[in-house]
Amino acid sequence: MADQQLYPVPAQWAAEAKVDQTGYEAMYAAAGSDPDAFWLDQAKRLQWVRAPTVAGDWSFDEADFGISWFKDGVLNVAANCLDRHLAERGDQVAIIWEPDVPEEEPKRFTYAELHREVCRFANVLKAQGVRKGDRVTIYLPMIPEAAFALLACARIGAIHSVVFGGFSPDALAGRIEDCDSKLVITADCGRRGGKRIALKANVDAAAAQAPSLEKVIVIKATGDDVPMHDRDIWYHQAAESVSTDCPPEPMNAEDPLFILYTSGSTGKPKGVLHTTGGYLLWASYTHDLVFDYRPGNVFWCAADVGWVTGHTYVIYGPLANGATTLMYEGLPNWPDASRIWQVVDRHQVHTVFTAPTALRSLMKEGDAPVKATSRVSLKLLGTVGEPINPEAWRWYHDVVGEGRSPIVDTWWQTETGGALICPLPGATDLKPGSATKPLPGIYPQLVDENGAVLEGAASGNLCITASWPGQMRTVWGDHERFFQTYFTTYPGKYFTGDGCRRDEDGYYWITGRVDDVLNVSGHRMGTAEVESALVLHPKVAEAAVVGMPHDVKGQGIYAYVTLNSGETASDDLAAELRQWVRKEIGPIASPDAIQFAPGLPKTRSGKIMRRILRKIAEGEVESLGDTSTLADPSVVDDLVANRVS
Ligand code: WT7
Repeated sequence: MADQQLYPVPAQWAAEAKVDQTGYEAMYAAAGSDPDAFWLDQAKRLQWVRAPTVAGDWSFDEADFGISWFKDGVLNVAANCLDRHLAERGDQVAIIWEPDVPEEEPKRFTYAELHREVCRFANVLKAQGVRKGDRVTIYLPMIPEAAFALLACARIGAIHSVVFGGFSPDALAGRIEDCDSKLVITADCGRRGGKRIALKANVDAAAAQAPSLEKVIVIKATGDDVPMHDRDIWYHQAAESVSTDCPPEPMNAEDPLFILYTSGSTGKPKGVLHTTGGYLLWASYTHDLVFDYRPGNVFWCAADVGWVTGHTYVIYGPLANGATTLMYEGLPNWPDASRIWQVVDRHQVHTVFTAPTALRSLMKEGDAPVKATSRVSLKLLGTVGEPINPEAWRWYHDVVGEGRSPIVDTWWQTETGGALICPLPGATDLKPGSATKPLPGIYPQLVDENGAVLEGAASGNLCITASWPGQMRTVWGDHERFFQTYFTTYPGKYFTGDGCRRDEDGYYWITGRVDDVLNVSGHRMGTAEVESALVLHPKVAEAAVVGMPHDVKGQGIYAYVTLNSGETASDDLAAELRQWVRKEIGPIASPDAIQFAPGLPKTRSGKIMRRILRKIAEGEVESLGDTSTLADPSVVDDLVANRVS
């Protein structure tokens, strides 16, 4: 059985890692037996203006629901990521920036330089009237200013809300309005894989639908000509007249740090809220343990700062730990399939952390582009975002890592702030495709549909029974939705939305979402969101969206569309609908397959039977199950006959 194939901890890792197997077990036990003492001790990783005297204070029960950590502590995130390192490592490189175009020169910022840039940026924000608690929307490409902007917000206590540059003006407008943000930080254009992304133009289009928006700070990144309106301010001009001295705002541990929108199974995206002390502690704790970070190592998380992975493992975790973090502007496979490994050689990267989808797309190009590079500096490999298939795992391990580097497969979510289930490189024997074991302080539980707890080797729905410092605190503006979404399916537990199997060795194998959330190239997409976008089209009467297997993206988007009477299906219309969804949400939501269907399978009470639609999209037409309860069973024959493959 695949489960039996173990990749033991390499001897050198076992001998030299900060945490070995015994150490992991001791930590796990300590976190369980006296959580307050354990977490107050861990909190010493951070520099506090006032050290906390309480650790977790939380309840997942309806009667006294609430979550807080270190609630009497006072600190500033930017001071933790910058100021406290200045004495010891002011001249050490904090950020290496690798441009999209390989012929261009990389940029490097030492901790002292980064500190100055962040203070400058913070003063620009202050000069525009931004105050503690205000929401600032950040819509930027992967340029150094993105790091400055996040940290500048943190420094003055403003709450940042980063919106991925691939989202459309409509999606951006919705996110600006939802958190009532008055200021957006953007750039003239972004660059990725040799292509331009018209960020400023998108902000202009969003502004028309976002009445809360008052000011736009524009960074000159590409130098493209962009029209400037009354509300627009060039960053480089505003930065000329401000000082580079900006004292960090003392923040309560439970003051909000950021909002990050993510898709759920229903409705519009939720603003996941993370707070100051617990989030930063989780970022620091997990970056240190999971990646065994040592001074001098170059750490490269290849995620965009528009996702939580970019927040936690490009910016906050590494900088809190005084690391050298690499920020990459481009794509893993541009200009060719060797690029990632060329960047590894160029900057002597020690740890690379990327998504299975990127690995699968590179694996398709064969081993030669990898073998054309040295990768001698590479000692640790990480993955995140979706289950990794064992083939991709072995390719990563054997070809990229030449068998010497452990792979840390990190399972977590926007909601969790950082990794929860994953190996420690010096402690955990690996099994390809398994996220292995919970970190110290994490208590996973598998339950069946009725909430009965499953023990031992079992498959079920993954819950977490106790809070951890990095847990989200609320949905922005809708605390009731927070409770309803995560704590009512299985009362008293946090329900992750993931299915999971635990094997006889206690290893966890995430099997994917059990709700109506898709994972497309490691990005979350709600089926309801894509459906809402489709039905906005004047020719569409009804739409149902499900996932389909996709060899690179993991999951693709399969849309069943019923047209208004009188409209005719065509390839042109399918292309138009794809374009429509790109415009409404963004390219990542564009359906991979569109099937025009005269009718959808519904129960007599009018509920769409998604189970059947999923099976058809997956090509499993032989096992559709019982269709007799449908109002009109004959629609299924049409769906099967006209399946798009
Ligand atoms: C969902 C969360 C984790 C940050 C990036 C994505 C899936 C994530 C893994 C993994 C299997 C994974 C889950 C989870 N997922 N990591 N290592 N193995 N599945 O964050 O957009 O909030 O998505 O991604 O289904 O629920 P996100």
